Amino acid sequence: MVDIVLDHATVVEHDKSQLHPLHHPKQHINPLVVDRAEGVWLHTTDNRTVLDGMAGLWNVNIGYGNQELPDVAAAQMRKVAFTSNFVGMTTPPAAELAHRMAGMAHPTLNTTFFASGGSESNDSAFKTARYYWYRLGKKDKFKIISRQAAYHGITVAATAATGIPRYHTMFGPLAPGFSHIPAPNPYRYAGDMHPGETVGQAAARALEEEILRQGPETVAAFIAEPIQGVGGVIVPPDDYFPLVRAICDKYDVLLIADEVICGFGRTGLWFGQQQWDLRPDIMAFAKGITSGYLQLGGIQISDTIREVIDSAPPEDTWMHGYTYSGHAAACAVGLKNLEIIERENLLENSRLMGERLKEGFGKLLDFSIVGDVRGRGLLCGVEIVKDKATREADPVKALEIYNACMARGLRTRNVGSTLAFAPPLVINADEVDQIVDILGSVIDGLA
Ligand SMILES: Cc1ncc(COP(=O)(O)O)c(C=O)c1O
Repeated sequence: MVDIVLDHATVVEHDKSQLHPLHHPKQHINPLVVDRAEGVWLHTTDNRTVLDGMAGLWNVNIGYGNQELPDVAAAQMRKVAFTSNFVGMTTPPAAELAHRMAGMAHPTLNTTFFASGGSESNDSAFKTARYYWYRLGKKDKFKIISRQAAYHGITVAATAATGIPRYHTMFGPLAPGFSHIPAPNPYRYAGDMHPGETVGQAAARALEEEILRQGPETVAAFIAEPIQGVGGVIVPPDDYFPLVRAICDKYDVLLIADEVICGFGRTGLWFGQQQWDLRPDIMAFAKGITSGYLQLGGIQISDTIREVIDSAPPEDTWMHGYTYSGHAAACAVGLKNLEIIERENLLENSRLMGERLKEGFGKLLDFSIVGDVRGRGLLCGVEIVKDKATREADPVKALEIYNACMARGLRTRNVGSTLAFAPPLVINADEVDQIVDILGSVIDGLA
C-alpha cells in the first residue's frame, strides 16, 4: 500500500509548489491539511478536528470515510480501470450507471452522457443544445441565457454562463453568445417589478423580455440551477419555474437544469428540479453522483433530443466527448454511491436534518446582522446584513464570521454576504446542533 506520510510542516512547505483554485498564493498561509476524515469530520496533520459544513465542495453526500466505495473502485480498477467509450466501445459500469439513471430525474430524461465534472457537463449541455437546433436547420439559434449570480463552472463556456462578475474580469474576452437576467432572489430582487407582481413573476418576465430582446430565433437555451449555490443559496419562489418552463415552450428555447450542486439528495429529493416538478430538456450533473470519491459528471438529455441525435446522418454525428467519458471505475463508484444513498435513506435524512438546521438558524434571525435564513434540505444559507431594514449586504462581516467559525472548528463558506451550509447528508441531529451553536456564538460575539 502506498501511503503518503508527511509531517504538517513538510506538507505546508511542499504545497507551495501547488497553485490552488480561487486562492491568492500569499493568502495560502496556514492551510487545513486534511489527512483523514469520517462522516462529517475532517482531521488535519496538525491535529485539528473540523466539522465540514460544506461536504467538501457541496459534494461529499454520503460523508467521508465510506469503505464500500474504495472497495468497488479497487475491484473495478483491477478488472479494467479505464477504457475508451469512444467509437464502438463501452464498459459494464458505464452501461449500468446510464441504465440506472434513466428516468430518475424525469420520465423524459433517459439518456446519459458522462463527463468528469460540472464545468465539462455544462459545456456539453450548451454544445448539445446548439447541435439540436443545428440539426433542425436553425443554426442561428445558438445563444444561451443565464442568470446573475449563477455559477456554472470554470471552462471558457461555463465561465461565460456564470453570472458572477469576479469570475469574468481578468479572463476576457468571454465566449460570445451568453447573456444574464436577474436571479429570482426573493430577499433581494435586482430586476424591475411591476405593481402587483411577485418576484417569481418578475424574474420569469425578465426571461421572456430577454428572449424577445435577443430574438427567439437566436436563443438556443436557458440555463438555471434549481437553487443557486455559489451565488448565495438563492431559493426561487414557487411560482418561478412553472412560468419559466411555459416561456421556454412558448419561444422554442431549451431548458437546461444545472443540478451539479442540487442533485443526488442535497435538497431532500433526488434532484432539486423535482421541488418544482420541472421538466428540463437537458440536465447537467456531477459532484454528488460519486460523493466526490472519484471524478464524474455528465448530462441527461430528453427523448426528443436523443431522437435528433439518433436520426442524424453519419457526417453530422454529435462530435463531442472526453477521454474520461464513462470512466469505468468512476461509474462503478457512482452506481454504488446511488445504492448507498437509497439504502441509507439519505434523502429523508437530508429533509429531516435540513429542517432542523433551518429551524436552528431561524433563531439567529434575532441578531441584528442576520437578515435571512433560507434553504431546502441540506442546502442552507444565512445572509449577513449591515441593516435589517435596508437589507444592505455585508460580505465583509460574512468573511469575518467564516474565519471565526473555522477557528472554532466549523467549516462553512462565505458566498458574498451569505454563509452557505451543505454538510454531508449523513449528518446527525447532534452535529446539526453543533453547527447552529457554533454559528450562533460566533455571531453573538461579532454582532
Ligand atoms: C451549479 C454548479 N455548476 C457547475 C459547477 C462546476 O463544477 P466543477 O467544479 O466540477 O467543474 C459548480 C461547482 O461548484 C456548480 O456549483
